[in-house]
Amino acid sequence: MTKIAKDKLRLNNQDISNQDQKNNDQAPYLESLKSYVKQYKIQNGETPTYFIQTFGCQQNENDSEIIAGIMDASGFISAENYEVADISIINTCSIRENADTRLFGHLGILKTLKQQNKNRFTMLCGCMMTQDQHLEKIKKSFSFVNLIFGPHDIYRLPHLLWDSLENDKQIIAVSKENLMPSQENLPITRSRKFRALVSIMYGCNNFCTFCIVPYTRGREISRSFSSIIKEIISLRDEGYTEIMLLGQNVNAWGKDFRDEKEKPKNFAELLEAVAQIEGIKRIRYMSPNPRDIDQQLIDTIGKYKNIEPHMHLPLQSGSNRILKLMGRRHDRERYLEIVRQLRKARPEISLTTDIIVGFPGETEQDFADTLDLMEQVKFDSAFTFIYSAREGTPAAKFKNNSDPEQISQRFQRLIELQNTHSLEANNKVISQVEEVLLEGISHGNKNILTGRTADFKLINLSIPQEIYQTLPSEAINDQGNLNGNYFEGKYCLVKLNKAKTFSIEGEMVEIQC
Ligand code: 5AD
Ligand code: SF4
Repeated sequence: MTKIAKDKLRLNNQDISNQDQKNNDQAPYLESLKSYVKQYKIQNGETPTYFIQTFGCQQNENDSEIIAGIMDASGFISAENYEVADISIINTCSIRENADTRLFGHLGILKTLKQQNKNRFTMLCGCMMTQDQHLEKIKKSFSFVNLIFGPHDIYRLPHLLWDSLENDKQIIAVSKENLMPSQENLPITRSRKFRALVSIMYGCNNFCTFCIVPYTRGREISRSFSSIIKEIISLRDEGYTEIMLLGQNVNAWGKDFRDEKEKPKNFAELLEAVAQIEGIKRIRYMSPNPRDIDQQLIDTIGKYKNIEPHMHLPLQSGSNRILKLMGRRHDRERYLEIVRQLRKARPEISLTTDIIVGFPGETEQDFADTLDLMEQVKFDSAFTFIYSAREGTPAAKFKNNSDPEQISQRFQRLIELQNTHSLEANNKVISQVEEVLLEGISHGNKNILTGRTADFKLINLSIPQEIYQTLPSEAINDQGNLNGNYFEGKYCLVKLNKAKTFSIEGEMVEIQC
């Protein structure tokens, strides 16, 4: 975009005023960005474009939606990939080792592109940017990067971006302070029509010994009740029927409130208030921690049918010894008790989880305890991870004699067991008719739709001839295939016919008009 005048990266926020945080008024900088884009068009005859690559969790996805909102509101146009974009943005994740590796792979590509065209502009943000070792590496090997900011700095992106573009400055602006990344006054471009992501809290106080999140995302800060409800009502008015409440430790929402007005509110009460908003058909939340699940929350989930009959409840390990070393605040007995209570409150509830294999010191007996707990719960699906040491976490200093070959075998055994449970769970609902919220067209077959049941099962469905004939012309595109845009966000009834491990095949019975 701009010629790089200075070759030194400017550390920290010396002249990017922290006043921004206090008055949080980015409107003037959005206007300045608009003028910048106009000027660029006059000079180059083209509108400048941007591409965002997002790694990691849904909270990062939500942050990228805000970044896209800022870019769109300023007049930039979204592009398909790095090659055709004037501004490349990478929103990074630090949770596991492969996320780091992927960032540096992508920076390698951008370095080559930069050598071909010096006017390219590169922006990095997200969790990895709060870690000094990564910043050092970027400064040393990828000094062409123009702008770096952290997860707490999105609220001032209009200012940072404008300053960097207009004044040809390289800027690193990563707040280590635990700021509330207020998004109230920022534009947002949502990436989905069917599910709106709503961040309700940021950070985590749990300090599980393997996890980098409390260091990169900071301590728990909850968004105010009124601002969450206001956002959800406006989403409902825009036509969203499914809301996903997000937080690293979503059910700890409200624990940090000091303000008397907010103090009595907890996650169960927030969930109840959202469930009472007319027109919100599905409420999802991600991810709760077993530590903060109480009877009030279980009762609320039992009471409101528009709260999803699904919980993603990270287990990490089935061994009490390992759970203790991990610094988790639950043991296997408590986990099983929560599962019993949830199933009592909502018998149809599906349960999914996260499990780590190969935590330092894990023995065959510890691993057997994990398999045993999986047998008892029979999760509908699970994200399984091989432990990777994260620099700066306590577990990274634990003695680790594990044999990679043995860990990889355990990982395989874990996946095999989970796959049998997933298939069993999917088989249980065969021949039922369920409501599916459509998400679009299947990747593998342009005449198959995909969607999710209320309990988050992935459904691939065909449309029988008698319904196909009744579809309006906009449901079919110029190539004669189904038009994803038409179906996205619609509900339909589906007869579930065939269980697979990761999905269920079905046939549409009826579609919402
Ligand atoms: N190694 C492996 N898996 C990890 N996770 C978090 N940190 C690590 C790590 N160091 C997994 C946990 C968490 C999920 C988001 O990522 O299972 O729940
Ligand atoms: Fe990480 Fe534990 Fe917090 Fe989850 S609860 S984000 S695993 S520290």
